[in-house]
Amino acid sequence: MEIDQKNNGVSAATTATQPLWLLAEITYQCPLQCAFCYNPTDFDKHTQNELDTESWIKVLRQARDLGAAQLGISGGEPLLRKDIEEIVIEASSLGYYSNLITSGAGMNEKRIDALKDGGLDHIQLSMHDITEEINNFITNTKTFKLKQKVAAMIKDRGYPMVLNVVMHRYNIDHIQEILEMAEGLGADYIELANTQYYGWSLVNRDQLMPKKEQVENALKVTNKFRERPGNKMKIFFVVPDYFEDRPKKCMNGWGEVFMIVTANGDVLPCHSARVIPNLEFPNVNDSPLKGAWYDSPAFNKFRGDDWMQEPCRSCSEKENDLGGCRCQALLLTGNAEGADPVCSKSPDRHIIDQAIKDSQNPGVEAKPIIFRTNANSKKIDKGDEKDRLAKFHATP
Ligand code: FES
Repeated sequence: MEIDQKNNGVSAATTATQPLWLLAEITYQCPLQCAFCYNPTDFDKHTQNELDTESWIKVLRQARDLGAAQLGISGGEPLLRKDIEEIVIEASSLGYYSNLITSGAGMNEKRIDALKDGGLDHIQLSMHDITEEINNFITNTKTFKLKQKVAAMIKDRGYPMVLNVVMHRYNIDHIQEILEMAEGLGADYIELANTQYYGWSLVNRDQLMPKKEQVENALKVTNKFRERPGNKMKIFFVVPDYFEDRPKKCMNGWGEVFMIVTANGDVLPCHSARVIPNLEFPNVNDSPLKGAWYDSPAFNKFRGDDWMQEPCRSCSEKENDLGGCRCQALLLTGNAEGADPVCSKSPDRHIIDQAIKDSQNPGVEAKPIIFRTNANSKKIDKGDEKDRLAKFHATP
């Protein structure tokens, strides 16, 4: 399948000795309960010890000193925090290019004006479907009208209209209508992000994963839409990596350009890193970011290629993908040093092929979706969903 893989927005040629991106996962609280949320399933235990404003400002300064220039403010829903405006002002004065990644919940006219005045550069709004029914079903909330309202506010303030739509079995056949809706809203850019299976989306994989034909058709419709005369909207289609035969160069390399600071201050090279056992991640309450980035065993663990096992170690393509995603390798095979099972050279590729086969006939294993709620997070953390998660090697 021909693809448009994005390496998280960073050119694959980039090699950095400093973090370029800081993603502030500022809170794990969220009014939406999306079935595909990439947040860890045990997020609930990190909701009581969130960093305060002063600590976030310290984080921003330290990361900027290290060279970070792009700031993503995400969550959970970042607008649930009352101090986003203050954080944006600081980010702007430090010279970050700042991007608020939001569901729209918590946005209003007053706040968007304050954010604009404070120097926020960019807002990325998540949309879910053209139908109210699927929007409300997949988020388990009534948020359809809110999204339209917030999209209009963003446009009105002169921001580029940037939409993100997570694609899954329930909305992938609506792709033409989703693109038309985006165009109607005046979108400059739309990311059609097929679900990647981590966090809640891994728990709900049987329910969310589309059939191969659905993905192929969606790509065809997207390409046709792109080629229409006069089309001005940039469309980014992220193919789910399960349908590839080579893995993605996850995060553009572990500890290469991305640094994530979570709501409770853990410093991670990727969203899911805490699933990897026996790795202790630094926390901003105990150590400055410089030490975390350069000296922590966790950040150094998968840098370079000394850690690689066969078949990656002697693979002629290892520079391109670095063996794929460490978290996916761990979650699906139990071995974080092994090849990402997406790779057709991996001895574990059959795990992915089985998931694709199961998606052809989802009724066989269908179980109700587990929505991203605090109560479900507690349950998973307590081990109540053991049977459902038994096929994975760690809790996602
Ligand atoms: Fe890919 Fe962690 S999510 S390395």
